[in-house]
Amino acid sequence: MTVLKVFEYPDPILKKKAAAVEKVDDELRRFLDDMLETMYSAVGVGLAAPQVGVSKRIVVIDYEQEEDENGNHLRGRPRYFINPEIVWTSEERVCGEEGCLSVPGQRAEVERFEKIRVRYLDYDGKEREILADDFLAIVLQHEIDHLDGILYIDRISRLKRNMLIKKMEKRREEEAREK
Ligand code: NI
Repeated sequence: MTVLKVFEYPDPILKKKAAAVEKVDDELRRFLDDMLETMYSAVGVGLAAPQVGVSKRIVVIDYEQEEDENGNHLRGRPRYFINPEIVWTSEERVCGEEGCLSVPGQRAEVERFEKIRVRYLDYDGKEREILADDFLAIVLQHEIDHLDGILYIDRISRLKRNMLIKKMEKRREEEAREK
């Protein structure tokens, strides 16, 4: 498995609407494995294909990862969503803090639907539907947004967004100086 490069704001790939996957085959599954490995290595709970420079409608999620007593990474429950489509949303909404591997070091409160129903293809290309709530609902909405070229910072006020981008740029400058 290969750890892929994670593209960061303001790379234009993150603004692009991703294309549907036409076939779930071994080649695609290899890519899914690489995405998962990349997500684990970057210590994220979700990753969308555009974040690794591939403009396709693919999401991987695992928020049940753990570490053993020696600090070794243990995978939790990897979930794969190919061509995910939100087919229902609850009226209730929730607010939670979100971060993103493409917006390093930053977090902000974002409003999301509390529950969603999503239709997708799984790792084997089988059509499935899931009623997601709690954390999974939030992560799924965040990742599906990526497929439409939307970052979570596009869903906060312009004032907050500008502050956050400034902080991120400052952090980058500091990191560059340390190298
Ligand atoms: Ni993200």
